[in-house]
Amino acid sequence: MFIAVDGGDGAGKSAQIAYLTNWLRNRGRQVAFFRDPGDTPLGDALREILLARKDLAICSEAETALFMAARAQLVRDKIRPALAIGQTVLVDRFLLSTAVYQGYAVDGDAETIWRLGTHLTGGLLPDVTFVLDCPTDVAFGRINRSRDRIESKGADFHRRVRDGFLRAVDDWKRLGVPGKVFVVDATQTPEEVSATIVERLQDEAPELADA
Ligand code: TYD
Repeated sequence: MFIAVDGGDGAGKSAQIAYLTNWLRNRGRQVAFFRDPGDTPLGDALREILLARKDLAICSEAETALFMAARAQLVRDKIRPALAIGQTVLVDRFLLSTAVYQGYAVDGDAETIWRLGTHLTGGLLPDVTFVLDCPTDVAFGRINRSRDRIESKGADFHRRVRDGFLRAVDDWKRLGVPGKVFVVDATQTPEEVSATIVERLQDEAPELADA
């Protein structure tokens, strides 16, 4: 089983991923967790360029290519091997983020991003994706550390990101994206968000809850 947690910056992904990892492990699942971009030598190098190098001008087409390159390596080196030995794979972001940040949010062609991105993962996409949804002002209030290159793009961009996630979910079926997607209201308490995620997951894959 391949699960992704996605959403705008500051929506509380990290806490939910930590909760979900424990929940799955407590039920005897072997969980392989990866963050996208990252978790391979190439992915870590690209992550550094994409997030830390505020001195570089990187256009959205170039961003798209670099995020996709990091993901292709992660899929080949880590995600596919983990799935092949029966592990439950949990990822912090995946191709949906590219469709939104480099597509919907900048008037990029999200359909082409889905098509190219799916090609570069060899057709592999998450079985279930949770999108944590939170108004931008609330989400940004939660980021109390220095902002990375993408987080520094400004409030208007991040409002388009938030809308972009919701539009992407609406377009999911029309664009023929495989897998299930659920929007979770991330303005709830962390406990409520976790409970919602676990409930949806159990509906989708009751076998995951077998202790
Ligand atoms: P994230 O790992 O969530 O950052 P953090 O560890 O700071 O929470 O995501 C990194 C940033 O990269 C985030 O702002 C979203 C952005 N991003 C894209 O723009 N496109 C992509 O394809 C991906 C995967 C992430």
